[in-house]
Amino acid sequence: MTPIRPSPPPPPDSVSELALFGGPPAKTKPFPDWPVHDERERAALLEVLDSGVWWRTPGTRVAAFEQAFAELHEARHGIAITNGTHALEVAVAALGIGPGDEVLVPDSTFVATAGAVLSVGALPVLVDVKAGSGCLDPELAASAIGPGTVAMIVVHMGGHPADLDALAGLAESRGIALIEDCAHAHASRWRDRPVGTHGALGTFSFQMSKLLTCGEGGIVITDDDDLARRLRSVHDCGRREGEWFYAHFEYGSNFRMSEWQGAVLSAQLERLDEQTRLRHANGIVLDELLGAIEGVTPQPLDPRCTRNSHYAHISHIDPEAFAGVGRDRLVEALAAEGIPNQAAYPPLHELDLFTSGAYRRRLAPPAAEARHAFLEGAFPESVRAGRETFWVPQTALLGDELDMEEIAAAFEKVRSHADELEGP
Ligand SMILES: Cc1ncc(COP(=O)(O)O)c(C=O)c1O
Repeated sequence: MTPIRPSPPPPPDSVSELALFGGPPAKTKPFPDWPVHDERERAALLEVLDSGVWWRTPGTRVAAFEQAFAELHEARHGIAITNGTHALEVAVAALGIGPGDEVLVPDSTFVATAGAVLSVGALPVLVDVKAGSGCLDPELAASAIGPGTVAMIVVHMGGHPADLDALAGLAESRGIALIEDCAHAHASRWRDRPVGTHGALGTFSFQMSKLLTCGEGGIVITDDDDLARRLRSVHDCGRREGEWFYAHFEYGSNFRMSEWQGAVLSAQLERLDEQTRLRHANGIVLDELLGAIEGVTPQPLDPRCTRNSHYAHISHIDPEAFAGVGRDRLVEALAAEGIPNQAAYPPLHELDLFTSGAYRRRLAPPAAEARHAFLEGAFPESVRAGRETFWVPQTALLGDELDMEEIAAAFEKVRSHADELEGP
C-alpha cells in the first residue's frame, strides 16, 4: 500500500466538519498495529543469530517455512524466493516461457505481474478485468488467446479469487499454463480449496503490507514435482539438488531467501489462520455497512469464494453520489478522517512503460517491432477501477466491530460533505 500523503492545512474561517479542514476525525480509536509480532519473532531471530547459519543453503528455517506454507495451501512444494516480483519471474522462467511467447495479464494489477513476462523476453498481452470482482475477465481472456499464447496470469484482486472455474477450465481446454498471482490472497479459498494450485503454480509476496510478512519475501507453490525441481534450480543459480555446488545446469540467478526471513515467517504463519478468519468476517460486516451508503458498492463476495483473506476491502464509489470529487481528494479526505485507504492500481496500459513503447526493449524481433493491437483497444473496467475504486487495507480489517462502524461512518461523512471538497 502506498503511504498516505499529509492533509493540507485547513482553509481559514473553515466551518466544515471534515477532518481535512479541522473537524473532528470520524475515527476515534486507533486500528491495531501492523506488523503483529511478539516474543516468537524475537526468539526465532535470536536463534538464527546464535546458530551462525544465516543463509538458506545449509539452513533449516527457510526449508521448514516452505513446507508449512505449502501444507497450509494443500500444495506438494514450496520454494521460498527473495520477493513476490522475483517469485513471478522465477515462475515464468521455470515454465520455459521466453521470446516469441505471449502471456495474458490483467490490465488492473501491480506492474510486477506484467514485468515478470517481460523479464524473460515474452509479451504481456493486457486483458480487461471483470466489473465487480476486478479480476481477469474469462470471456475477454478466451478471445485474447492467439497462436503465441502459452500462459495466463490471474490476480486474486484484494484477496478475492478470480473466477477459477472459468479460468482454470479455459487454460486446460486451450492447453496454456495458468499462473495464480496470489500476492493479495494468502489462505484465500475457492470452493473451499486454497488458492495457488488451481493451475500450474501460485506465487505470493511477503512484503510489509502483505497478509504474511517478513519485510520482503515471496514463495512459489506447486503440485508438479518436475516444475518444483525447475523452480528450485532457477532460484538457485541453475543448480540441481544433490549435485556439486559449482555445477550449473541452466540459466538461473540467486533468488534465495535468508534464514532471518524464514524464521520470522514461520512465527508469522502461526497467526495467519486466525487473522484470515477475522478479516473474512469483518469484510462481510463492512460489505453490509458500506453497501448501505449511497453510491458505495463493495466488491461482491462470490459464493464460491469460501474464504476471502482481504488484502484490501475494495469499494466502487459513484462519483455522482460524491459531488463529482476526484479520486485523490477523496483518498485525502478519508485519510484525514483516520481511515487508511488508497485508490486501486492505475491500469497497466496507461503506464509509461507501455505508452512510451519502453516495454519493446525487452522483446526480440519480430515481436519488438510488431503492432500490438491489444494496446489500441479499450479497457473500460480497469480504467474505472483505477479512477473510482478505493481500498481499505487488510490491517484495518484486523480491528473489531467498532472499527468497521467507524470506517463506514467516515465514508458517509465524506459523502455527505463531498460538496465542500473541491479539486480533482
Ligand atoms: C498483485 C501483485 N503481484 C506481485 C507483487 C510483487 O510483490 P513484491 O512487492 O513482494 O515484489 C505485488 C506487490 O505489491 C502485487 O500486489
